[in-house]
Amino acid sequence: MRIDKLLANMGFGSRKEVKSLLKKGIVICNGEIIKNGQDQVDPNHDDIRVAGELIEYKEFVYLMMHKPPGHVSATEDFRDPTVVDLLEPEDAIFEPFPVGRLDKDTEGLLLLTNDGKLAHQLLSPKKNVGKTYYARIAGSVTEEDVAAFTKGVTLDDGYETKPAELKILRSGSASEIEVTITEGKFHQVKRMFESVGKKVVYLKRLSMGHLVLDEELPLGSYRELTSEELSLLKQ
Ligand code: URA
Repeated sequence: MRIDKLLANMGFGSRKEVKSLLKKGIVICNGEIIKNGQDQVDPNHDDIRVAGELIEYKEFVYLMMHKPPGHVSATEDFRDPTVVDLLEPEDAIFEPFPVGRLDKDTEGLLLLTNDGKLAHQLLSPKKNVGKTYYARIAGSVTEEDVAAFTKGVTLDDGYETKPAELKILRSGSASEIEVTITEGKFHQVKRMFESVGKKVVYLKRLSMGHLVLDEELPLGSYRELTSEELSLLKQ
């Protein structure tokens, strides 16, 4: 790829800024100064340095975020802060986007990546990727609700959901549950509980496929996936 494109992708500034870096003679490829932005380099094999610093090129980023409430799962929004606003500039330059949506008030596991192919696979209804949520529910969740979820419930627009696994952690006037769904309809978990006459008052995603939220991550922070997490996710 062209050296000017690589440097721009890696966050070394606008085209103009990259041009001026090259002009300064501080961009070195395999020991030779490169001054022409059109020169081709192989980011996977060449030793490329800017002012002595080795460039570690990567095409894709995979970030696990502990989404906080109050941010929308989008790359831009006119009204609300987005999850992308929480990224450091060195990660934002890769232009990752959230894989699927969590509601503004939902917390928990959110994957951000610029790998469109993986995102597509994870979101494809055919793949049946399970997403597990913890929720607090106003009202008593019963075994009848478990049975209804196991069969699938009818949402307010008439949509019949696929079977979902509902586990009651605590039942009472305020219940706690875990639910696993394999779809991602708008407000799905909230609407599934509405269909059995109950209200979700707190919702947090715990896992998506084999990827489990790292509880050490404080709300609003994120980290790169480990290579093990990435290979589990790609399975
Ligand atoms: N279901 C919901 O209702 N909201 C979410 O954010 C995710 C799943």
